[in-house]
Amino acid sequence: MTLYESIFERRSVRNFRMDPLNEKSMSGISRYKEELIPLFAEIDTKIEIISNLDKQAGIKGMFTVKAPYYLLFYSEEREGYLQNAGYMAQQMVLYLFSRGIGSCYQGMARLTEGEVDRQGRILTLVIAFGEAKGELRRKPADAKRLDLQELCVFKEEPGRSERELLDAARLAPSAMNGQPWRFVVYGNRIHVFMRKSGHFTYRSRKWERVDMGIVLAHLMIAIDDLWIDAVMSRLENITHKTVPNNEYVISVVLGK
Ligand SMILES: Cc1cc2nc3c(=O)[nH]c(=O)nc-3n(C[C@H](O)[C@H](O)[C@H](O)COP(=O)(O)O)c2cc1C
Repeated sequence: MTLYESIFERRSVRNFRMDPLNEKSMSGISRYKEELIPLFAEIDTKIEIISNLDKQAGIKGMFTVKAPYYLLFYSEEREGYLQNAGYMAQQMVLYLFSRGIGSCYQGMARLTEGEVDRQGRILTLVIAFGEAKGELRRKPADAKRLDLQELCVFKEEPGRSERELLDAARLAPSAMNGQPWRFVVYGNRIHVFMRKSGHFTYRSRKWERVDMGIVLAHLMIAIDDLWIDAVMSRLENITHKTVPNNEYVISVVLGK
């Protein structure tokens, strides 16, 4: 199964068998973590995999699930690091699914051992993973997501490729299923925005930025897999005025 196909069937897994994964799976994960594509290559990141088979991993926090392994994503704290973390982590989450391994982001997870590594990178994301006890997949129609009509403003009728990209973006997972992404579609341009919700605390704003990285990963994977001629870039003439209460993130410009 490809990463693109995984977008449509993956669900968060919260019940795991506390059994080891086989060596082939573990070495595949170790190799793949070196292949993740960053959104901002200049941001220093590190991924560590820890075993919790002895239940001593020291992962704590509200809504944190018990799993045989955790993936710890450390990042240098600089502009764009949250989006970058979501972008890279989602590639890994889809890779895990494509290999039959369940996973769940752990937004509230804390590490008893400390949250800064020796190089000063901070613990940015924790992902629980392992063999699912129960359902690993679901049909895309069963995913609880907003409709495209609620997420998009269509200024012009979108073409087939634009639709395919939006379908992949729509299914991205997000913290508390908040789905902060919004899209303004002008023919061959998809402008991506982050919905600002004024009453949210700093903590949840942090997750919205991670969520935006996740949705950009879905767009990138769909562009690659479907061989769509498109580039993602920030256009300087787009401002917050385009969509009130939304922060402009990036545009996907498709070839004509
Ligand atoms: C950044 C982030 C943090 C999350 N934190 C948690 C968490 O702490 N506990 C949990 O059970 N699920 C967590 N989730 C999973 C979401 O609740 C889940 O992705 C969303 O409800 C959509 O469901 P689905 O992934 O099954 O499609 C998190 C997801 C993301 C993207």
